[in-house]
Amino acid sequence: MDKILVLDFGSQTTQLISRRIREKGILSEVFPGDIAVTDLDLTDVKGIILSGSPSSVYDSDSPRVDSAVYELNLPILGICYGFQRITADFPGGNVACLDKTEYGRSRVDYNVDDCPLFDSIPEGFVSWMSHGDSVSTVAEGFEVVATSEHHIAAAWNRKKSIYGIQFHPEVTHCEQGFEILDNFASKICKAKREWSMAKYLETVIEEIQQQVRDSKILLLISGGVDSTVVGGLLLKALDPNQVHLMYIDTGMMRKNESAEVERYLNSLGAKHLHLIDASNRFLNALKGVEEPEKKRHIIGDLFVQVQEDEIRKVLDGDYMLAQGTLYTDMIESGKGVGKKAHVIKSHHNVRSPLIEAKRKAGLIVEPLDKLYKDEVRQLGKLVGLSDEIVQRHPFPGPGLGVRILGEVTREKCDILREADWIFINELKKRNLYKEIWQAFAVLLPIRSVGVAGDVRRYGYVLALRAINSKDGMTADAYPFKTEDILEISSLITNSVKEVGRVCYDISSKPPATIEWE
Ligand code: XMP
Repeated sequence: MDKILVLDFGSQTTQLISRRIREKGILSEVFPGDIAVTDLDLTDVKGIILSGSPSSVYDSDSPRVDSAVYELNLPILGICYGFQRITADFPGGNVACLDKTEYGRSRVDYNVDDCPLFDSIPEGFVSWMSHGDSVSTVAEGFEVVATSEHHIAAAWNRKKSIYGIQFHPEVTHCEQGFEILDNFASKICKAKREWSMAKYLETVIEEIQQQVRDSKILLLISGGVDSTVVGGLLLKALDPNQVHLMYIDTGMMRKNESAEVERYLNSLGAKHLHLIDASNRFLNALKGVEEPEKKRHIIGDLFVQVQEDEIRKVLDGDYMLAQGTLYTDMIESGKGVGKKAHVIKSHHNVRSPLIEAKRKAGLIVEPLDKLYKDEVRQLGKLVGLSDEIVQRHPFPGPGLGVRILGEVTREKCDILREADWIFINELKKRNLYKEIWQAFAVLLPIRSVGVAGDVRRYGYVLALRAINSKDGMTADAYPFKTEDILEISSLITNSVKEVGRVCYDISSKPPATIEWE
């Protein structure tokens, strides 16, 4: 399948470049900026994009590109730092920290009228800039093809088909940006539009069949979108008798979660569904523990242990393991693609020796490892999952354990489960659930006074959290209409008698995180 490679020099928006190209139906993959050309599989690669970066080409440790990239005879597009990198790497080019920096909107005018990057893009579009350094002189063989108010906005080497742009076409604020990227991918690189979820489904099913053959395969189901989509894929690709699905109820799941998991996996044709109630083991281990990190570790470690104990009961040594690893997880953990970034999320991934061992032995199947979250949702629909499942909000591995502040008990889990369910159900009834990226309730370890009838009573304080986000890395509180949040608060305190007071968390991330622990 034709594809465009993106070499990543550390910009926050690198992944957006690749997503925009995919949105236009062309496969795009991200690799570390300094990867050696000999480590790249160049089959079907039609063009290369060099991303932006927080670095300056003048820094002694600034990221470099293997110069062999320039000799591949493939069209190249440098974006921001990528443009400056090209300029510095070719003779005669100069990058400087000029007086006028450009951050934000900037109009672009053309110096030539035949540059294919701007084909069908009207002159004077408003680009999005974010740079301190600028190209002051283009390298030999390049010509200036567009300028912003103060700077060179774009350059072109006609002979070598190398382009550089100073602005960021991948961000939504850049007018015509997606079309410019599409001009590069489809008109300049001539990459065919072969990437679609329907096509991906066909390919991935064949791949799973070839990889698994007659082996048994086990998948741990969390109730979330990713593992459920993998479950659906395995059941579609293989004989359901080969497929073992295991769901571990830690006692810290949401209301009805376990029953729902059972219902929809059965509806997908599961034959070996292992539902494990491990709530006693987890809640006993958490008795008296208040410290958040300690709780997380106990839950994580016990999860690995329970998983190994339970798998041993149903399968012998000879089986494969499937995982719902996403493309972003591969990038975040530095598994050969993109940069090693977002250290903040490292605590989310439980390191299981079993998974590591299976990975080493080449016995792991990760059919979502090329997909972004929204693509997984599309794939889920194609596999036959309902909207309700594919649109589910993310749920953390340690579950309600990190939403009950302080000691976790079964009683508190029950109270929180009920309150959370009312909140989420109301969001769905009010058509707000899809609009909100993630919402949940948190049970605080304090009691506050209230009145019920004429009687004083002390109830728990419950915090509601609802956020807007793109990827969970940053977030803003969802701006509820006042009557919605007031009504939801009353519904909760009227139905869950242990809750005496409801607060709404208006913090953004950063400085707060999304979860409370
Ligand atoms: P924070 O709280 O770090 O959350 O701002 C960002 C996103 O990650 C989810 N989250 C987790 N997911 N295991 C997970 O699988 C975890 O330990 C974990 N902690 C947080 C959180 O729900 C939010 O979507």
